[in-house]
Amino acid sequence: MGKAFCPIFFCAKGSDRKKRSKKVSTWRVFSLKELHSATNNFNYDNKLGEGGFGSVYWGHLWDGSQIAVKRLKVWSNKADMEFATEVEILARIRHKNLLNLRGYCAEGKERIIVYDYMPNLSLLSHLHRQHSADCLLHWNRRMNIAIGAAEGILYLHHHATPHIIHRDIKSSNVLLDADFQAQVADFGFAKLIPDGATHVTTRVKGTLGYLAPEYAMLGKASESCDVYSFGILLLELASGKRPIEKLSASMKRSIADWALPLVIGKRLSELADPKLKGKYVEEELKRMILVALVCAQNQPEKRPSMLEVVELLKGDSKDMLCELEKNEIFRHLPASENSDGELAAEDSSDFM
Ligand SMILES: Nc1ncnc2c1ncn2[C@@H]1O[C@H](COP(=O)(O)OP(=O)(O)OP(=O)(O)O)[C@@H](O)[C@H]1O
Ligand SMILES: [Mg+2]
Repeated sequence: MGKAFCPIFFCAKGSDRKKRSKKVSTWRVFSLKELHSATNNFNYDNKLGEGGFGSVYWGHLWDGSQIAVKRLKVWSNKADMEFATEVEILARIRHKNLLNLRGYCAEGKERIIVYDYMPNLSLLSHLHRQHSADCLLHWNRRMNIAIGAAEGILYLHHHATPHIIHRDIKSSNVLLDADFQAQVADFGFAKLIPDGATHVTTRVKGTLGYLAPEYAMLGKASESCDVYSFGILLLELASGKRPIEKLSASMKRSIADWALPLVIGKRLSELADPKLKGKYVEEELKRMILVALVCAQNQPEKRPSMLEVVELLKGDSKDMLCELEKNEIFRHLPASENSDGELAAEDSSDFM
């Protein structure tokens, strides 16, 4: 990283569970000049990363605040449409676990979205990338992130008007603020669902490993596709493993296929991220894994709603937890697997 890049890396002071201060709900149009100056002319050293829609840069404004600037690739008409969609949706949405939109810039060919900068970057960076060696995700933080992200998605599904399907829930889209609270990002894929519609069929978007089978194969998007992706994310968070593991040149195994036999064999401790060094609350780990697996089951109608997911993760209802443990998927292994879950469908995820 060059000199120009100097984001402040925060660690939480006091309790992780403390409430965030209320978000400012205003947003505005930024001039291109202002964003050039904030990001040192979109300097390579300021670049936080690149996704499907363009590059994200760190920047700071004249008032000292830090921003993340998403500069969209404008040469495709689709990018323009996605830009308009994302801005329109985000402008309306305010929730403690959804990334705050500060504004946008649309000058000439430039389409840019400005967000709050998240000083602790993404879950991906802590689980698998630049911060993975720092071991900052202790168990309490992981549990908080799971509940917070679930509450953010719950808000999109059940409280936003009209309801919103995220379509790209994954660890790079769960950002972490100064207190390690989850901020679900990227509604560029989300489409507004008219009330009463059960699903919308459209081109499949999303990221391999997190895609619900019915969405990947039929392009049938519904809230339960997000529930599936969230299940995969929970397994990733608990175990520190990636959503898809390469076993050999032609064999891959999904994280759910790895985890289920271990649960059935009552070998839960083997599921915990080794980076936790055994420091976790057993009951909570079990809860997180069981919830993850009911979310990531193949039949969409059997997956819970995000309302149920939040309740289950919080562990408030003993009856619900009891029912969860008795779920049929924890009784038998799918016929295709041996007791160690080491048989994987050959390149089963390559049909994309
Ligand atoms: N507000 C932000 N604060 C800090 N880091 C951010 C912010 N927004 C995005 N990032 C990071 O910048 C990188 C690029 O983000 P981007 O959303 O473009 O790609 P992605 O999340 O990998 O894929 P996708 O395009 O599917 O969302 C990611 O690592 C992301 O976590
Ligand atoms: Mg993203």
